[in-house]
Amino acid sequence: MDIEAIRAGIPALRETTFFNTAGIAPMPSVVADEVVGLIRWEEMQGRYRPDVMEVMSGRAEETRRTTAQFFGVTPEEITFTHSISEGLNIISEGLDWRAGDEVIITDQEHTSGYMPWALRAEQQGAVVKRLRLMPDPEGIVDRLRGLLTDRTRVVALSHVTSSLGIRLPAAEIARVGRAAGALVGFDGAQAAGQFPIDLREMGCDFYAATSYKWCLGPYGVSTLYVRQGTLHRIAVRRSGAHAPVKVDMEAGTFAFPDTARKFEFGARNLPLRIGYGRTLRYLSEVGLKEIEARVQDTVRYFRGRVTEIPGARVQTPERFAAGALNVAVEGADPRALQKALWEQHRIVAVSPAGGLRFSVAFFTTREEVDRVVEALKQAVR
Ligand SMILES: Cc1ncc(COP(=O)(O)O)c(C=O)c1O
Repeated sequence: MDIEAIRAGIPALRETTFFNTAGIAPMPSVVADEVVGLIRWEEMQGRYRPDVMEVMSGRAEETRRTTAQFFGVTPEEITFTHSISEGLNIISEGLDWRAGDEVIITDQEHTSGYMPWALRAEQQGAVVKRLRLMPDPEGIVDRLRGLLTDRTRVVALSHVTSSLGIRLPAAEIARVGRAAGALVGFDGAQAAGQFPIDLREMGCDFYAATSYKWCLGPYGVSTLYVRQGTLHRIAVRRSGAHAPVKVDMEAGTFAFPDTARKFEFGARNLPLRIGYGRTLRYLSEVGLKEIEARVQDTVRYFRGRVTEIPGARVQTPERFAAGALNVAVEGADPRALQKALWEQHRIVAVSPAGGLRFSVAFFTTREEVDRVVEALKQAVR
């Protein structure tokens, strides 16, 4: 991996020491150029021209194929959404709920992974059960088994959690949850782009992923995978323009495609979607295995150096870590540390769960880790 060339292609890295890819990542120029280039092209050509529309929709469908390939599934199983939240709402709204039906989430969900199920609890009487992850993540699957009942309709967990960056054993969870008759899916916001993901191998029913975090892509475009054999179980609850393959308003009949595209409707931002495809190609060119290996190496280095900071402790469990490390410093206010890192050192990190979350991406260097460690030592002195 030519790290200098990669960093040169992500100009925002010149401005700051950036440790918040888990929040919103910096965008590579090739991706920004793709999006801006398409908007400029539309500006010059005019948008409502048959040839322009053909190119744009052709490129957008190409992105569906790229996305499917990225996740090891078929284009028919890919829906484009605006956000992870929207994807999870498609699933939660699409099921028929009866009072007392159960859904299992973790006790560390982002609001995106909580609200779609909280609404089902409020509106349909579903019961939301929370799977405890810490302090003993080794017991996650056993605890999941203990929560599953014959009323469990859905298991919907973060693949990697937001605040502590805990990577869950997704394939095992999918196997256990599906064997109990539940639909199993993941919020992949903190996972996609960090390591290879083969959803077929993972065996889940659905998976929501986004562009703007570890994939380094544009903001406001995301994807939802729904397994072919599960599609018929998720009803379409909202629809509109471009959705039905056939519609007869006189007769009052319509038909949806037999694919995950049935969930898409209305005006969409095609340049952003195509930009998402460009960023997935970019990541595949760098290599997901190489990305994972480099991140693991830098994370190991980071962990080692944290021991030099008085009172500091990594809260992210080592065996369940991916690229994010949450570091708590005894006696220090994490928000004050976040502020000091930014104001005095131009280091970008955030402060959830009583610590500072540092996102180590493949473009992160050991020198940047050193900068953080020295800055923290200075701040806690
Ligand atoms: C685990 C997780 N899910 C979802 C999101 C946000 O999803 P969206 O804004 O696409 O709905 C985040 C953002 O921080 C997250 O960490």
